[in-house]
Amino acid sequence: MTFDYKLKLENASQLVIVSKNKPFLVGKEMSDIEILENGTIIINNDGIIHDIGSSKEMEEKYNGKTFENIIDCNGRAVLPGFVDGHTHPVFSGDRVHEFAMKLAGATYLEVQKAGGGITFTVNHTRNSTEQELYDLLIPRLDRMLKSGTTLIEAKSGYGLETETEMKMLKVLHNAAKKHPVEIVSTYLGGHSIPKGSTAHEATQDIINKQLPELKRLKDAGEISPSNIDVFLEKGFFEYEDTKKILEAGKQLGLELNFHGDELSYMKSGELAGELGARAISHLEKVSEEGMKTMAATPTFAVLLPTTAYILRLECPPARRMIELGVPVALGSDFNPNAHCLSMPFVMNLACVLMKMNMNEALVAATINAAASINKSSTHGSLEVGKFADFVILNSSKWEHIIYELVDPPISHVVKKGSLVFS
Ligand code: NIG
Ligand code: FE
Repeated sequence: MTFDYKLKLENASQLVIVSKNKPFLVGKEMSDIEILENGTIIINNDGIIHDIGSSKEMEEKYNGKTFENIIDCNGRAVLPGFVDGHTHPVFSGDRVHEFAMKLAGATYLEVQKAGGGITFTVNHTRNSTEQELYDLLIPRLDRMLKSGTTLIEAKSGYGLETETEMKMLKVLHNAAKKHPVEIVSTYLGGHSIPKGSTAHEATQDIINKQLPELKRLKDAGEISPSNIDVFLEKGFFEYEDTKKILEAGKQLGLELNFHGDELSYMKSGELAGELGARAISHLEKVSEEGMKTMAATPTFAVLLPTTAYILRLECPPARRMIELGVPVALGSDFNPNAHCLSMPFVMNLACVLMKMNMNEALVAATINAAASINKSSTHGSLEVGKFADFVILNSSKWEHIIYELVDPPISHVVKKGSLVFS
């Protein structure tokens, strides 16, 4: 049996459109989201939003049409699927013991120096097969989906040599073909200096070995990275090496989306301006000059409140960024240090710790996060022509997704018009 349409979400108490006809929002616009009270959405058979309007108008317009599925959204708010702008979801090895060390006062760098941190995860990930990593990734994606995430940015970075970095990118490529959570992947060979190497040697290895292999596999359709990332930090990759790696990635057509100014001020914003980077993550220590350059470029600030929370760091200056017109996005930073798969929790932290209001947090977790990975023409808002990715709440007011800690009232998650969680 064929239907005229795939899905109708009818009588929603609120359709949280977020914004219309804009690739991303900055400054005061971030507080001004668009909401349609008592609305209905029609989704076509390709899983794309076909029409949006008041329930009364839609009832008349689509009278007599057939739908494969109808969800009664009476008493429910409907939001766009969340976009997680920064994750490290492919890894093996458990770092719960480090959480205890950190609670006892150890810093991130002290844990790293003691052989823990990224080094610990690299050792485990190198020793895992592609299948093992895939099997670890899928349940993580399932948990993200249950929390309303329908699109993520996901990094390699626990190999630090060609074979494991490519293995991680293959895992992401193959998972994206099977799992409802969409994945935009990022090559992060420059996440840390491998044991026994200098920063110079590691930089040369990335440029002369890892990137050529990445190109070969990408051309062969075995991996699909869109971005290149580097951890620009003292004792990791510093300014000049980071610049060389990013420039080499740019030559291959990758977008620049890097970790910067997290533990030390490293002139990240300035570098992003020089190279035309799309995004920088973290930015706890960014300078005023750096933020002004980011606003002008523009470069997205992907803020990660879970990291500041876990490591008890000062938060990035989100308010000042918004004031200066830097486009702000959010990410969970899911990794063995910040074990968080929930964008509702991230939005809550962004509000409480970084003083964003709820509208700003939602914009940062939807349209702006999508734009930070070049996906806002298809994702991040409820607009005709975009993918039908929705979070439906068991609540008539959308703000409950942020307000209700730990166990927010999600009743359904829809991906491309299909019900993927209820
Ligand atoms: O974004 N800061 C660098 N990278 C990750 C942490 C990775 C890890 O500790 O395994 C981050 O927080
Ligand atoms: Fe990270």
